[in-house]
Amino acid sequence: MNPDPSKDNTVNITVGGKPYKASPGQTIVHALWAAGQAQAISTGCAGGVCGACTVSIRFADGRKGGTELACRKTVEEGMQVYPFPVDPMPSKPPVSDPTPEKLREVYPTLDRCTKCESCTHACPMDIPVMNSVLRMQKGEFEQVAEDFTTCIHCGLCRAVCEDKVLPHQMGMWVRRSMGLSYPNPPVVPEPDQKAAAEWAHLMEGTPEERLERARQFRKEGGLGV
Ligand code: SF4
Ligand code: SF4
Ligand code: FES
Repeated sequence: MNPDPSKDNTVNITVGGKPYKASPGQTIVHALWAAGQAQAISTGCAGGVCGACTVSIRFADGRKGGTELACRKTVEEGMQVYPFPVDPMPSKPPVSDPTPEKLREVYPTLDRCTKCESCTHACPMDIPVMNSVLRMQKGEFEQVAEDFTTCIHCGLCRAVCEDKVLPHQMGMWVRRSMGLSYPNPPVVPEPDQKAAAEWAHLMEGTPEERLERARQFRKEGGLGV
């Protein structure tokens, strides 16, 4: 029910130039779902972690727009939304004991950065992308690995970089290379009996058995292994 009948609670937005009516508080993705137009923007998790729903936005009141995740951004009157899908790009294999020289060999783009800061503004996870590129140049890899901890691989920092620096690819290379360099691999605890038995079912069971176990899990919230 409309909480205040004296007000029209419709929010008008456009997506790719097409007008849609939304409700206050809806995300762009939810507004499209409600309109039966889910295909208008590619969507994955709908929870801000997969990076599939990249868009760029303009506001009606002249505020500075920019890049966003459509599953997190709530609608505003007059908002113009443009799908901005970013193609995935294969990553380069990590190395042990990474150095700026090794990084430059793999990504010669490292020194192209002109410090425009577009990547930092584009990042929906508030990662200090440009500063991290400057840290990569200086070999401050512990901090770089920390910077990219919350990266969701949406690729927006790459897409907006006119100098094709590839900041997120380099950030991931640093993180993975740091992981390869630990003297001792992390200790993986032995699986408990129940988990091991479930694993055996998954590996050895027939598709019918797996389906039956999934049904049982849904019904009972657990498995009598
Ligand atoms: S967008 Fe590219 S050139 Fe600009 S600061 Fe980021 S990495 Fe450097
Ligand atoms: S660092 Fe780049 S790829 Fe990672 S979340 Fe930010 S914009 Fe997306
Ligand atoms: S759909 Fe996964 S981040 Fe938006």
